[in-house]
This record gives sequence, C-alpha cells and structure tokens, in this order.
Amino acid sequence: MTETHKVRFEPVGIDIDVSEDETVLDAAFRQGVMLMHGCKEGQCSACKSFLLDGDVQMDRYSTFALADYESDEGYVLLCRAHAYSDLEVELINFDEEMIHSGLPVVTVPARVAELNELTADITHLVLTLVEPGSLRYYPGQYVDIHIPGQVEHRSFSMAAPPSPDGRLEFIIKRYPGGHFSRLLEDKIMVGDQLELTGPYGSFTLRSSDRPLLLAAGGAGMAPMLALLRQLAEARSERAITFYYGARTEPDLICAPELAELAERLPQLRFVPCLSESWPADWIEARTGYVHDVVERHETDLAGSEVYLCGPPPMIDAALGLLSGAAVPSGQIHFDKFTITAESGTD
Ligand SMILES: Cc1cc2nc3c(=O)[nH]c(=O)nc-3n(C[C@H](O)[C@H](O)[C@H](O)COP(=O)(O)OP(=O)(O)OC[C@H]3O[C@@H](n4cnc5c(N)ncnc54)[C@H](O)[C@@H]3O)c2cc1C
Ligand code: FES
Repeated sequence: MTETHKVRFEPVGIDIDVSEDETVLDAAFRQGVMLMHGCKEGQCSACKSFLLDGDVQMDRYSTFALADYESDEGYVLLCRAHAYSDLEVELINFDEEMIHSGLPVVTVPARVAELNELTADITHLVLTLVEPGSLRYYPGQYVDIHIPGQVEHRSFSMAAPPSPDGRLEFIIKRYPGGHFSRLLEDKIMVGDQLELTGPYGSFTLRSSDRPLLLAAGGAGMAPMLALLRQLAEARSERAITFYYGARTEPDLICAPELAELAERLPQLRFVPCLSESWPADWIEARTGYVHDVVERHETDLAGSEVYLCGPPPMIDAALGLLSGAAVPSGQIHFDKFTITAESGTD
C-alpha cells in the first residue's frame, strides 16, 4: 500500500501530506500551496530546494537543472522528488505573497475557436472553455494541453488575463516533427475539443513599484501580453520597458496588440530586437540577441523588477547578464520554455 508522509517546508513553516506515488510539487498543488516552479519536468531548476532531513527518490531529470554535485550536497527538485519518509525541506526560492495563493489545478475541456498564422512558424490559437469559469488562473500562468490520442501533454502560456466568456489565447511556435505543435498545421481544426490541465507557473506580477523590465523571445510573447494586459486593466503607472527578440522583421509578432497596449499604457516602451537580419534603416542598437540589446540600453538593471520568457538559451544568457549587474534574485522572474524530454534526461 502507498504510504503518506508529512513534509515541512522551511523557513515558511508550512506542512503538507505527500503520498509516495506523487511528487512533492504535485502534493503541494493539491493542497493549494504554491511553490516556485517552472516546467514540472526536471528541466528548468525553478523548484530546486534543499533536503534538510528525510529520504526521497527522484524521477529522471536533467543535470542542467540539478548538477550531480548539487544532488550530492542534498539539493532536490521538488517536481521529481517522491517522499519515502517524513521530510524537512528548505525552500531556496519562495515568495510569501504567492505561497498561499495557489488556485485549484483542474482538468477541463475546451473547444478550438480560432487558429491564425502569425508568421511562417507561429500560430495564434484561441480556445473557449466548454464551461466558462471552470479554469481560474493568474495572468502569466500556463496550462498543459493534452496531445489528442496520446498520454503526453505540452505546456502553453495564456496570452491574456481570464475572460468571463472562457476565451483562452495562446501563441505557439510550430516545430517540424513537434508532437503537439505540428498538429496545428492541419490536424487540429476549429470546433475540435482539447483537454487542458492547470493552472501552473509562478510567472506572475508581484506587487512592487520598481520599473518593470520585460524581455522575451519568440513565443515568449504570450505571457508578456498577459502581464501587459493585466497592467493595462489595472491602469498601472509603472514604467515598463519591453524588449522583444525575433530573428527577422517578419518574425515580429503582435504589432496590433502592442499598439493597443501602448495607448492604454503610455509609459510602455517597446524595443524590438532583430538577431539575424534587419532592414537598412533599422536602429543599430536594436540588433543582436535580446540580452545584448538590454545590456546596451539599460544603465540601472539592479533597480528593476525583471521578467524573462522564451527558449532556454535566451533565458540563460539574460540571467548571466543580470547576475553580472547584481540584480537581486528576488527581482528576477523567468519562464523557460524547456522541451519535454523524450524519456527524461539522465
Ligand atoms: C512552462 C512552459 C511554458 C511554455 N509555454 C509555451 C508557449 O506559450 N508557447 C510555445 O510555443 N511553447 C511553449 N512552451 C514549450 C512547449 O511546451 C513545447 O515544448 C513546444 O511547443 C514543443 O512541443 P512539441 O510537442 O511541438 O515538440 P516536441 O515533440 O516536444 O519536440 C520535437 C522536436 O522539436 C524541436 N523543439 C521543440 N521545442 C524546441 C525548442 N524550444 N527549441 C528548439 N527546438 C525545439 C526539437 O528538435 C524537438 O526534438 C512552454 C514550455 C514550458 C515548460
Ligand atoms: S525542474 Fe522542477 S519545475 Fe522545472
């Protein structure tokens, strides 16, 4: 029979019950405790914590997320850890404001309402919940969309705050051979039903008056639009600079949405960055990778609240820049669009 154990999180002093057949992170979701996390698949390291006491066994994970020496020292990934005794865990990253704000994770049906091609490899997908209100989430969060006919799922960030009519918007990059994304080319049609599980993710706006610095690449536009729309709805007066990286000018997506947001958020400064090729009249300081452009433009990174979203190399490069600029870790929030490993790496 599967046993249940107590897990105590320090320094916040929260206890949860964890059964041996669930991960510590899943048990926390079930009990409304919002621990810091990203991919939930042992790929991103957002849930890395220190095991003070007790026995765990870990499902497979990437050594990019938890190096062998860290594992030897006692660090664990809560999204991969199963408790085999009572545990005492020290959270490395946590947010007192967020930890009690967990929304229930649900699995709900939704119908495909629109499929629009934004570029040669990016689709704007709109779903409507079969029962509006059946999924609650914070702007910046994501859901897992189940791949039709398979047991697997893929994670996608909502591009707008919740709407009363149950409309969910996504911005999805299509990969050749991608188990889910290639289905958007000709297999998933308007009217089809999909299943979603969520909400997940800690990429949400924290209360602060610091200037906001947003940096995204590719489909990383999605949660940024959700955060910007939330700020616009709240008539926020915070200074906001949004750096968005694409390869070429035709890859710069969501111009109408950003123009509309600029009207509602007069303090928003949008800085498009092109890394591969650019028109002759393009501003030179906006060429290169997004973190290079940020470095060229920003003189007070340490004074900003920073949100990063996009593919892992972009996030890693930007984190390197922020660490060099001594930005306190509590002011950095990121969502890494990691790839689901075939059978889990190492
Ligand atoms: C928290 C989170 C939020 C996410 N939000 C979004 C989102 O809003 N929009 C979005 O488009 N994606 C998002 N992703 C990524 C998404 O979940 C899938 O990983 C991605 O769509 C690929 O899935 P797939 O089934 O199409 O391809 P898979 O079948 O998983 O991969 C097939 C092949 O495609 C290529 N490939 C897949 N992903 C990448 C990549 N990132 N970089 C380079 N090559 C790749 C690789 O060659 C890979 O072997 C998010 C991921 C996470 C963890
Ligand atoms: S490694 Fe645990 S959430 Fe990504």
